[in-house]
Amino acid sequence: NAEDLDKVYSFAIKLARVAGRMLLDSAEQRYIPDGNREVQGLSEKDSSVDIVTKTDEDVESFIKTSIAQQYPEHRFIGEESYSKGASKRYLIDDGPTWCVDPLDGTVNYTHLFPMFCVSIGFVLNSRPIIGVVYAPFLGQLFTARAGHGAWLNEKQRLPLVRDPIPPIPSEAPRNCIFSCEWGKDRRDHPDSNLHRKVESFITMAAEQSGREGKGGMVHGVRCLGSATMDLAYTAMGSFDIWWEGGCWEWDVAAGICILQEAGGLVTAANPPDDVENCSIENAKLGSRLYLAIRPAGPSPNETG
Ligand code: IPD
Repeated sequence: NAEDLDKVYSFAIKLARVAGRMLLDSAEQRYIPDGNREVQGLSEKDSSVDIVTKTDEDVESFIKTSIAQQYPEHRFIGEESYSKGASKRYLIDDGPTWCVDPLDGTVNYTHLFPMFCVSIGFVLNSRPIIGVVYAPFLGQLFTARAGHGAWLNEKQRLPLVRDPIPPIPSEAPRNCIFSCEWGKDRRDHPDSNLHRKVESFITMAAEQSGREGKGGMVHGVRCLGSATMDLAYTAMGSFDIWWEGGCWEWDVAAGICILQEAGGLVTAANPPDDVENCSIENAKLGSRLYLAIRPAGPSPNETG
């Protein structure tokens, strides 16, 4: 019921704040005068770009334990538990499930690039209905609850851009800011995600893209290094479009809730062709392919 969800929401915010403090403390410990930038307990998972640190594990263990104490009947899916085989993917069904990335943007964190965050999504009936994302280095807390809007630092309603917000240009991605990630598939093969992405960057950016009325002269292509932050920035209205192939549920559960509550769209599709046909029904956790569009038109009604 609504009262229970209020409690889950407050609890998720409390967890994110403590977890964010843990991320910040561990990052700050690395600003040491002798210039030693070694990262504690860093190890590789599938490749040298798929990495985990002791901080990812400590923060996930804190969040997982806290949830198990407070809500022993709820399920938990976390990036690091999954990597160790302790939680399974596709566990998402109608039951209450927490979907957590303790540190999204691990590579950024290891390089002390501030675009990293803790991402806590709460999923019910297979839908992310609560999303809390905290980027402690930036001091940005994004929160959302189904039907209650999306917020920055619990004060400013998302999107932040003027109201009413113009729709993204009909010639999108021309004149848009587009965000995408390099991802972890680095195979030098024409069918790899990496090749598909690089080719799409060129199609979107080049003056003569060869596509009639499509592509060409995108205002900018950005790679933040965190899928969660991409969704949060699309919800803010800072990005027009975000696209990524290869995400996991924990990368997107919280961000999808925040984006949808801000009035944005997320679907499983490819840019640039599918931008106009973006349909929210396809926004399923587990699709691994996501195309997000920033809010447009008047802000969604505020109900709480
Ligand atoms: C990754 C980041 C990255 C995205 C990958 C994610 P991690 O998460 O969000 O930007 O391209 O798909 O897995 O490993 O930093 O938690």
